[in-house]
Amino acid sequence: MELSLDNLEWKDAYKLLIGTIVPRPIAFVSTVSQQGVNNLAAFSFFNGVCPKPFIVSFAPMFKDSADPRKDTLRNIQETGQFVINVVTEDIVHQMNETAPEFPSFVDEFEVSGLTPVPSTKVKPARVLESPVNLECELVQIVNFGYQPGSGSLVLGKVVYAHVHDEIVQHGHIDADRMRAVGRMAGNDYARTTDRFALKRPPLPEQYR
Ligand SMILES: Cc1cc2nc3c(=O)[nH]c(=O)nc-3n(C[C@H](O)[C@H](O)[C@H](O)COP(=O)(O)O)c2cc1C
Repeated sequence: MELSLDNLEWKDAYKLLIGTIVPRPIAFVSTVSQQGVNNLAAFSFFNGVCPKPFIVSFAPMFKDSADPRKDTLRNIQETGQFVINVVTEDIVHQMNETAPEFPSFVDEFEVSGLTPVPSTKVKPARVLESPVNLECELVQIVNFGYQPGSGSLVLGKVVYAHVHDEIVQHGHIDADRMRAVGRMAGNDYARTTDRFALKRPPLPEQYR
């Protein structure tokens, strides 16, 4: 199959994107509106950028509506803060309950039954049941148009992290204890418990 992106409808380009970039980590993003309504939504266009400063990114797409912004993006633009919560096998069904595009007055903590607990340095609540919560201050939002199929890149600086003690072993996060899930295409998800190790080779002598 050969594909020229110039001629591709956005929905087909979307299928190419979500089928190619797999598995994707999931940022379960909690925000709060200016009016004080909690919001919780999942974003699998999510990644880390660098550890010091600790920068993370995720990308909400635009909707086909008068205000094309998802609640998450609007709240971050208004407040400059968000929390990234890790999605595990234990809470993936509750995460899925937050996926419909509810009106902005709906609190997805209530929809999902997940527990909001106060964050330490930012206003949005964090998810108690998620074993890692990264409290973020907005660094920059880069927009790529406003039409359906386009989106924004949200860059945040992690200012505080909460890690449940039960998932830590020998000073680092143990993947088998955390049981994070990843996103594939369609309705599919991936577990992180089927792994293999591959030792990185040293730089050959002649290049040192
Ligand atoms: C696992 C998962 C991953 C998702 N990833 C994204 C994403 O990367 N970008 C996006 O725009 N929407 C994504 N969505 C859809 C949003 O979660 C959905 O549009 C949500 O209703 C947005 O909520 P909000 O308006 O409260 O921000 C994803 C949904 C799920 C369940």
